[in-house]
Amino acid sequence: MLQFLQSFFSDGSFIPHGHCYLWKPWLVWMHIASDSLIALVYYSIPITLVYFVKKREDLPFKWIVLLFGAFIVSCGTTHLMDVWTLWHPTYWVSAFLKVITALISLSTAIALLPVIPKAIALPSPAQLEAANCQLRLALKELANTQAQLIQTEKMSSLGQLVAGIAHEINNPANFIYGNIAPTHEYVQDLFTLISLYEKYYPCTIGEIRTYAEEIDLDFIKADLPKILSSIKMGSDRIRKIVLSLRNFSRLGETEIKEVDLHEGINSTLVILQNRLKAKTNCPAIEVIKEYGNLPKVECYAAQMNQVFMNILNNAIDTLEESMVSCKVAIPVKTLGVSSKKNNRQQNGKPQIRISTQVVDNNQVIIRFYDNGCGMTEEVKQKIFDPFFTTKPVGFGVGLGMSISYQIIDKHGGQLKCISAPLQGTEFIIQIPINLKYD
Ligand SMILES: Nc1ncnc2c1ncn2[C@@H]1O[C@H](COP(=O)(O)OP(=O)(O)OP(=O)(O)O)[C@@H](O)[C@H]1O
Ligand SMILES: [Mg+2]
Repeated sequence: MLQFLQSFFSDGSFIPHGHCYLWKPWLVWMHIASDSLIALVYYSIPITLVYFVKKREDLPFKWIVLLFGAFIVSCGTTHLMDVWTLWHPTYWVSAFLKVITALISLSTAIALLPVIPKAIALPSPAQLEAANCQLRLALKELANTQAQLIQTEKMSSLGQLVAGIAHEINNPANFIYGNIAPTHEYVQDLFTLISLYEKYYPCTIGEIRTYAEEIDLDFIKADLPKILSSIKMGSDRIRKIVLSLRNFSRLGETEIKEVDLHEGINSTLVILQNRLKAKTNCPAIEVIKEYGNLPKVECYAAQMNQVFMNILNNAIDTLEESMVSCKVAIPVKTLGVSSKKNNRQQNGKPQIRISTQVVDNNQVIIRFYDNGCGMTEEVKQKIFDPFFTTKPVGFGVGLGMSISYQIIDKHGGQLKCISAPLQGTEFIIQIPINLKYD
């Protein structure tokens, strides 16, 4: 064994490789330099590979990369051996190293074969990017659906509340309204009867006369009909409010209907009446209606009311805020609005202007303009994003406009916003008169 090892590592009677090159210095040095360089590079590559594998623990087929590393190291060693055998003809050792290299190369090549189809099946960066893109879209859609659900829930409970209140008020209001006419008639009859008594039985009894003076009968005769007519006016108003509430809630109406949009806007304004009134830090908000001649529009009525509600609520919010913070609620220059309208805005009052018109015979445009603070370009870019809000916590969820955008989109229409700081804001809704059914 010792003898075998000695002969294995000995030069034997072989001729060093340099003899083949006739020891031509340039040739010898060229071989030395290139073999050494190749060996150096071959040794450095596995270091890089091992580093890479260590950093990417999730790398598939890690072992094949390491096998490649071993293959490259053995190749490098054969080159080093070529330098050694220039002077030392240990060709047995050199042949043994080549056998090892051959075995490693062969196993690498064989191991590679079943891996290739699997590697081909791995998603390419472009496919991964496409899948990522789809995931992002799905996520966005999910966020939109979530937003819509939250808003629908909000609106449906508001709708139910409104419908409930309308229903409860309706009965007593009708009761009052229905009894006013007979009450008026009975009062008239009683007054006539008193007059007849006074005519045929002139009052001689002191107690009656004193009491009539005490209660000021003449004044009662004059005032009672007035009181009754103001009660009538009040109950008339209650009936109108109830009607608006019912119109607003339109509970259960999920189907498409031909709707008078002006009615929807008016009902929404009635609901918001309280917010439009003067407050300690904000004068009354003036609503200017410039309604055109609109035909009935096919739409989801409750959803359209929801859009009006969201836009008007935002307008009121900004007008209230403008009174407190930016002060100038009234820009002189406005967005694409005629000078006649501009003049109106110079009177220093917070205003909401609503105009409607038909365009191209088959579309309606509804504009909501408020002369509030307006918004920066940055805010404007984001207003239709779900959950985007500039309002303090508890004041805004950031869903109103994104839902409104989706509703208008569902109607095959467009919702646009024109706004600039201190220039007010205009929301423009454009929807077809007849819904296109998919
Ligand atoms: N008329 C407007 N003037 C100025 N800014 C507005 C106006 N309308 C909307 N915005 C801006 O757009 C943002 C988003 O409005 P959106 O109605 O979606 O949410 P929000 O009003 O904050 O909350 P909520 O979901 O309760 O309506 C608001 O926070 C506000 O900054
Ligand atoms: Mg809002």
